[in-house]
Amino acid sequence: MQTSSIHGMWSSRLAFILAATGSAVGLGNIWRFPYITSENGGGAFVLIYLLCILAVGLPVMFSEILIGRRGRMSPINSIRELSDDAGATRAWMGLGVIGVIAGFLILSFYSVVAGWTLHYGFLYAKELVGAGAPITDPGETFGSLLGNAGELTFWHGLFMIMTVGVVAFGVEKGLERAVSILMPILFVLLLILLGYSMNTGYFQEAVSFLFKPDFSQVSGPMIVTAMGQAFFTLSLGMCAIMTYGAYLPSDVNIPRVGVTIALADTAVALVAGLAIFPIVLAFIVAPNPELTGIPAGGPGLIFESLPLAFSTMPFGILFGMLFFLLLSVAAWTSSISLMEPATAYLVESTNLSRKASALVVAGLAWTLGLASVFSFNIWSEVTIGGKDIMSAIEFVAADIMLPIGGLLTALFAGWVLSRKITREELDQKMPDWAFQSWLWLTRIVTPALIVVVMASILGFF
Ligand code: PHE
Repeated sequence: MQTSSIHGMWSSRLAFILAATGSAVGLGNIWRFPYITSENGGGAFVLIYLLCILAVGLPVMFSEILIGRRGRMSPINSIRELSDDAGATRAWMGLGVIGVIAGFLILSFYSVVAGWTLHYGFLYAKELVGAGAPITDPGETFGSLLGNAGELTFWHGLFMIMTVGVVAFGVEKGLERAVSILMPILFVLLLILLGYSMNTGYFQEAVSFLFKPDFSQVSGPMIVTAMGQAFFTLSLGMCAIMTYGAYLPSDVNIPRVGVTIALADTAVALVAGLAIFPIVLAFIVAPNPELTGIPAGGPGLIFESLPLAFSTMPFGILFGMLFFLLLSVAAWTSSISLMEPATAYLVESTNLSRKASALVVAGLAWTLGLASVFSFNIWSEVTIGGKDIMSAIEFVAADIMLPIGGLLTALFAGWVLSRKITREELDQKMPDWAFQSWLWLTRIVTPALIVVVMASILGFF
């Protein structure tokens, strides 16, 4: 059994929790969760998403961490090694390959959206020092940003440089520090925003939107989206957490850290939803009598609604600046984990250095990201399966590839690895019923749920 990885190790259990939580908490919680909740009618969607976190997300999370820690290498090579040891086919390496491809696709659009948040942070910073005009019409500000391919490309590039900057120097150094200081500050800002939202007069209504399920809204595509979001928000299904698991010291209790990460991630998404929807209700729904409920917000939701609140709240400009800059940091700690699996693979399998490997990955992802940039302007007419290019990439990567990756991860951990190995990695002292529950969830229940949900895409349900 390997006790360390050639790529370095987390200095402690806490360092891993911080890094993995940094990976999980990001645009998925604060940008994507509210916007897809608005598109899927609220309560019932949120409930299904939470069920997916429990029944699918947690078992896959444990599986990823344990596979990574047992293999101690990049996902593709860890899986090869573990398959060889178990006498299983090397075709399982396909799981690592799917993960690397999904990581590229996600990183490509993720960096574009993170670029928007950087741009907004700087808009507020300029306004704060008196050098920029206030955002008076957020819809117009956002629309003109999207129309400007050059501007989008610049911010997308800047964000990619920030990401490669950390990955090139190895994971532990920059990352641990950034996460342990900045993430708690972001959470405090979210709580302040929540306090503001509670006083808008629309808090109750937002709570019912988020938590009162209207089951008439449930549909196949909605369940697919909810499950895709569960994977996306927990960084599962593309071997990111598996890669981080490879750097985890052997004595750390996997179920305990897994649950901690999932709880923290879910808390951030729910607080973000509770903070944002009262603002949407107060500033967008209430002044427009033709709206009967919360409209589908699209990817612009937070950029078009939050500035309305920032323009009326005390110290709103300063707050807006801090909020968007810290959201960029949250996105940064996630994008690092999107880049790490492919980078670690190149380091192991080619004679490129870590720096060169990271640059290759970043260059490819940046180039691919241009397709998302152009989907808002010069290619705005292009649709794939009825979706614009960025939404199509988002759909294929998050809602299709991540669940398939998760399915293979669960099957691999449940059926290929021996019980001895999984038990040893999970927790030697775990009571037998707890281990058996994990095992059968991972072997049967989780894969079956994923298959049923995925089958609904193909029209079987
Ligand atoms: N979990 C991240 C977020 O919610 C996104 C992510 C997905 C990161 C997959 C790594 C892997 O923003």
